[in-house]
Amino acid sequence: MYEQASHSLLNDILAELKPEAGNVRLRHFYTRLGANFYAIHSLFHLLYGDRSDFKEQMASLVEKLAQRYIERAPGLRKSDLAREKDYNWFLNQKWVGMALYCDRFADDLKGLRAHLPYLQDLGVNMVHVMPVLDCPPDNSDGGYAVRDFKRIDARFGTTEDAAALAATLKKRDMLLVLDIVVNHTSDEHEWARRARKGEKKYQDYYFVFDDREIPDIYEETMPEIFPATAPGNFTWDGEMGKWVMTVFNNFQWDLNYRNPAVLIEMIDIILFWANQGADILRLDAVAFLWKKMGSVCQNEREAHLLLQLMKDCCQVTAPGVLFIAEAIVAPSEIAKYFGEDAINAKECEIAYNATFMALLWDAVATKNAVLLGQGIKSLPNKLERATWLNYVRCHDDIGLGFDDNDIRLSGYDPAQHRRFLIDYYTGRFPGSIARGLPFGENPKTGDARISGSLASLVGLESALESGNEAAIDAAINTIVLLHSMILSFGGIPLLYYGDAIGTLNSLEYLADPAKAADNRWMHRSHFDWSKAEKRHQTGTVENRIFSALKKMIALRKEITAFADFDNRQLLAMNAPHLLVFSRTDPQNSRNRVLVVGNFNDAEQTLAISALRPHGFFQQGAMKDLCSGERITVENDAVVLSPLSCYWLTD
Ligand code: GLC
Ligand code: GLC
Repeated sequence: MYEQASHSLLNDILAELKPEAGNVRLRHFYTRLGANFYAIHSLFHLLYGDRSDFKEQMASLVEKLAQRYIERAPGLRKSDLAREKDYNWFLNQKWVGMALYCDRFADDLKGLRAHLPYLQDLGVNMVHVMPVLDCPPDNSDGGYAVRDFKRIDARFGTTEDAAALAATLKKRDMLLVLDIVVNHTSDEHEWARRARKGEKKYQDYYFVFDDREIPDIYEETMPEIFPATAPGNFTWDGEMGKWVMTVFNNFQWDLNYRNPAVLIEMIDIILFWANQGADILRLDAVAFLWKKMGSVCQNEREAHLLLQLMKDCCQVTAPGVLFIAEAIVAPSEIAKYFGEDAINAKECEIAYNATFMALLWDAVATKNAVLLGQGIKSLPNKLERATWLNYVRCHDDIGLGFDDNDIRLSGYDPAQHRRFLIDYYTGRFPGSIARGLPFGENPKTGDARISGSLASLVGLESALESGNEAAIDAAINTIVLLHSMILSFGGIPLLYYGDAIGTLNSLEYLADPAKAADNRWMHRSHFDWSKAEKRHQTGTVENRIFSALKKMIALRKEITAFADFDNRQLLAMNAPHLLVFSRTDPQNSRNRVLVVGNFNDAEQTLAISALRPHGFFQQGAMKDLCSGERITVENDAVVLSPLSCYWLTD
């Protein structure tokens, strides 16, 4: 693609474009369009260049970008300009996130606004409000089966309530994260309803087939995402008399991005929510965006091109808005969602660090950090201006998404080790203290994932039941240890709403027929505000967890070495139970923190001789920021408590 061709096309499009904008200043829009158009045009051409209506489609995209720019509120435009200048703003260690369901944490959006002081008490300043858009009440997949992308579900409130929430968050210096479910719609979405009624235009928004011929070819290579509850990847629609692709639940129809109209609609939806004041958009299930026969239909190159286009378009209209990639895929694939052939992030600035999450769960079950360290070593390098979303628990199941080769290098057999982990967390392994359930068990492949709340998975539920104080201590220490890892690793930590008060599994979902078959609901319970009150009562479980996390969060925000500039060094210590890494302030290399996590339930010693070459323990003792205590050296070693974490400085 020649740049000249791009310029000339842009001139044609702009000549046609008549933004009803006599008095609106479009200067910044034109600058950004000029800077990004070559990329947008090239990508659009790669995907849709062979279509006869290519030019019209291109024009329609640019028109959407202009319309959404014109309606972007002055305050948001101002913040765009500020963030363009301070473009590394989100790499700062001051951000700490939490994901929550608006209706389960509070009743609705108004209630959520009223409960913000709880989040601020903990130190959370980035709120991922799980999907709040209009969904069918029963077939909602927790909000991920959207019926109307531009309407807040009446159960949560109105668009005004969402705007009021966004405004309040801004005043409190908190960020708003919203979901955009880019891969599929509910089967009750208007597009699906019209497709069902026979409108060809909307059938072309989906993958629709008269018979099983093509679906069967796809099925040869496509894995099943919900094998237990929604086997297969296609669903027969009686009314339409056709098969439709449904990778997730059978009521979630996959969008067909081979049709540029779909991409343009989705970019419009992205910009719509950017204009409602979202700071960050979480793009759901991005690995699935492009389907190709003969492939697993995940992580396809075109999925990346689509994301690059979405990003470039967002840069034109709402450049202050960031994307989170929700791509829970193999370690080597995840980092590609930052953007491949680029130095700076060109797709999503932020990605779920699913590998680290899964590795942490391995360390908890095995009580050692061998695979954890090995897996971190194999994490691909990030681009500049890209950062991880580090989490311990989220609303989904835990998939053991680390690499078989890393498992082998850690001395285990991959299949046996995965089996052990599933058995451990589902309580089948003799002596296991965990109380999870298997999710998505697939007898055909032997795969399974894990459901359960953080507290129940680390043994708090079983310990409270038996009244065993030592076991309660160990569970609390494990919760704190896991959080200390996501707070110090590098990236934005994302807590999950019940975890700071030790929320256990909940079985309330079993009474709801629309949820009973999906045990992810066991860790999506209603937030218990009377339990949360106990955080103020010294010595309660809630108080012990909450106050420890609150303290670490406050500390994190002060430690400049915790900002994410790829400034982590993993230190090999020949101590299998420990994870040891250093973080260094890129502006001032004397600001360093040595992070040590002991995953064993017994004391461990760490030889100082191994640390000295890295410049630690030069003066004898070091200070642990978490406890405020000095860690002294005895017999050339330091002693580390069971299930504990240290942030050490000179
Ligand atoms: C994402 C969501 C998950 C949902 C799926 C389908 O993975 O996190 O909850 O079921 O997408 O939308
Ligand atoms: C998405 C996620 C996967 C999860 C599934 C359902 O596919 O990528 O991790 O298991 O949704 O929760």
